[in-house]
Amino acid sequence: MASYYFLMLFLVGATTASGAVLSTDFYSCSCPNLLPIVKKGVAKALQKEPRMGASLLRLHFHDCFVNGCDASILLDDTSKFIGEQTAAANNQSARGFNVIDEIKASVEKACPRVVSCADILTLAARDSVVYLGGPWWKVGLGRRDSTTASRSDANSNIPGPSLSLTALINNFANHGLSVSDLVALSGGHTIGLAQCKNFRSHIYNDSNVEASYRKSLQGKCPKSGSNLHEPLDHQTPIHFDNLYFKNLISKKALLHSDQELFNGSSTDSLVRKYATNTAAFFQDFAKGMVKLSNIKPLTGSKGQIRITCGKVN
Ligand code: HEM
Ligand SMILES: *[C@@H]1O[C@H](CO)[C@@H](O)[C@H](O)[C@H]1NC(C)=O
Ligand SMILES: *[C@@H]1O[C@H](CO)[C@@H](O)[C@H](O)[C@H]1NC(C)=O
Ligand SMILES: *[C@@H]1O[C@H](CO)[C@@H](O)[C@H](O)[C@H]1NC(C)=O
Repeated sequence: MASYYFLMLFLVGATTASGAVLSTDFYSCSCPNLLPIVKKGVAKALQKEPRMGASLLRLHFHDCFVNGCDASILLDDTSKFIGEQTAAANNQSARGFNVIDEIKASVEKACPRVVSCADILTLAARDSVVYLGGPWWKVGLGRRDSTTASRSDANSNIPGPSLSLTALINNFANHGLSVSDLVALSGGHTIGLAQCKNFRSHIYNDSNVEASYRKSLQGKCPKSGSNLHEPLDHQTPIHFDNLYFKNLISKKALLHSDQELFNGSSTDSLVRKYATNTAAFFQDFAKGMVKLSNIKPLTGSKGQIRITCGKVN
């Protein structure tokens, strides 16, 4: 009995000592004002441009899907590597870098060289969702920043809008996320915009697009040329709500990949649930975000605390 308890203590201690576990109070001594500083920086940016909330949420997602949440997406190209910013999904599309740089500068002023860019990006994504009316969740902290980045890893890991449901499910499974995580997290498309080139094929080639919605989009996004932005949720693009799921049921998804979640298959029932139950959507979205933001963090003595998010120290 005694040795059993001893073993339990040893295992718990070992997990903590290795630093593998993120914790909400990681900076409570070293940077007690971190949370209000990030929250204020996000509020300032979103007051100026509400869409920035969507951009910050997506930036975090694209960071985490490429070798974990290690702020690799923030690194500019160097002579040693080509970074993630020019990967297919990010080039001329990922945005919010300046906002993170500004928040990082405020954090550095208050607590020099302690807080990682990866943690700042994670907090900024959460605060953006809350600012736009979505759910709040606890953010575990203690991630460290990568010393490298990879365009080719970004190209092979970030899902694109032409994927089938099966391909989307496989992509998320490769990152440890379930089918219900896929559906709930796709609800992130309740905010933000997409470029014409990303939904052109959907509105011209797919059969499952509501007629008046198709017509209106075709008027804005011609078969070739123009690359205007359109809202992913055509009703409330700067409000975090469950209308994205209602849109899927009325065949008014902007992206092919969105409509794949509701086209007569196994995920239809989850879409129906989130479309009728905001609380269930918010709960599952928050749970999914915690799983997303816990993907392969660098902890302990791995990586570094970057001073400037765009470059390795
Ligand atoms: C399921 C697979 C997903 C695919 C195929 C996908 C694809 C896309 C595409 C093509 C865009 C438009 C980019 C552009 O035209 O510049 C976009 C935007 C966006 N995505 Fe996703 N996405 C996925 C999942 C997610 C997840 C899990 C989240 C967050 C939880 C997310 C959040 C966003 C946001 C907020 C925007 C708007 C960004 C802005 O306005 O700056 N997406 N996504
Ligand atoms: C990124 O976009 C720019 C502007 O459209 C283009 O010139 C460049 O070739 C693109 N880079 C990659 C790697 O696709
Ligand atoms: C429709 O699909 C065809 C065949 O895949 C493709 O060549 C064409 O470019 C698509 N049309 C649009 C507008 O994307
Ligand atoms: C949606 O489902 C219908 C009916 O099964 C099918 O004919 C169609 O090809 C599907 N659409 C897309 C874009 O997958």
